[in-house]
Amino acid sequence: MSEPELTRSVWEIDSNDYPAGASMDEKIRFLLRYAILAPSSHNSQPWRFRVLGNEVDIAVDESRWLDAADPTKRELYISVGCAIENLCVAAEHFEVEPRVEYHDGTDTDTVATVTFRDDSDPSTHRPSKLFDAITERSTSHELFDERRLDTAVQDELGGVVTEDDVSLHLVDEPAVKQSISELQGKADQLLMDDPEYRKELGHWIGLGALGSSWLMARIGQAVVTHLDLGEREAAKNSKLIESASLVAGLTTASDDPTSQVKAGQVFERVALLATTADVAVHPMSQTLERPELRTRLQELLDSGADVPQHLFRMGYTDEDPGHTPRWPLEMFLA
Ligand SMILES: Cc1cc2nc3c(=O)[nH]c(=O)nc-3n(C[C@H](O)[C@H](O)[C@H](O)COP(=O)(O)O)c2cc1C
Repeated sequence: MSEPELTRSVWEIDSNDYPAGASMDEKIRFLLRYAILAPSSHNSQPWRFRVLGNEVDIAVDESRWLDAADPTKRELYISVGCAIENLCVAAEHFEVEPRVEYHDGTDTDTVATVTFRDDSDPSTHRPSKLFDAITERSTSHELFDERRLDTAVQDELGGVVTEDDVSLHLVDEPAVKQSISELQGKADQLLMDDPEYRKELGHWIGLGALGSSWLMARIGQAVVTHLDLGEREAAKNSKLIESASLVAGLTTASDDPTSQVKAGQVFERVALLATTADVAVHPMSQTLERPELRTRLQELLDSGADVPQHLFRMGYTDEDPGHTPRWPLEMFLA
């Protein structure tokens, strides 16, 4: 049997199709259609789901791990955390209560088990407007315009971070943004110097995962794999950071898989809320992919002993990036 193809049709979910009268098992399978719309590093979609009665085990798929860009698996766990967050937002919308139990991920691929109950308590739920944002969210790669995020929006973004051990840092001071933009430039140069990094990036571009047409994906793969575009990338990405109203960093008290999964959940919650406010979001991971630059970023974010897990810029643009494709849910069900 041939491998299923990437498709954008997965974004067209009719919430009226939710099987309200069916078994919990069937309900969970419907909810997982929202989980797979989550963002992931290089759109690698590195998740696997095993549904058993009223619970689902969620695992990382190491065959989709970006071992050149992400040797410590930080982005692998963050990506799976994003999928868990979509699952929880969708469950609360359909009034089934999700309870997440984290596993430490060190001797098992399974990072969490989510159990669902019918007796839902809306008073504990995330903002209900996050649900519609799941099918609207996308990553922007555009220069942002001069509009700034006002303090009310910034406060609302900070308000959805309810985890004790994950913190959101919003940076708008020009000098700090400038220093982060310089780090970004260094990271791009170092990474693009590495043929393994370029080959891996080229592989995902070539699959069409980053949204290019068949022809552009092939051309993109050849260019990235064989040319060192470090200087060009550095100049482009530094400008992207400078154009942003805010640069946001997520830090955690511990540097372990569960903290990274939780950071992924927080990132996706913030990205969904930003979507409801027409704020564009763009993760920029390169600085975190080099340990020495990650430490410097920690100083710039002034996070004390807390370690940076994810970096993204936020701002406004009228350009709609459209959706990147996904593999169908069936491919990720054990
Ligand atoms: C952990 C993580 C790291 C990411 N790093 C980057 C990045 O460095 N540069 C970038 O352009 N996008 C980055 N992204 C965004 C992904 O490329 C994007 O989510 C994926 O292509 C799917 O597209 P979508 O978010 O529009 O659905 C990252 C996403 C995640 C979850």
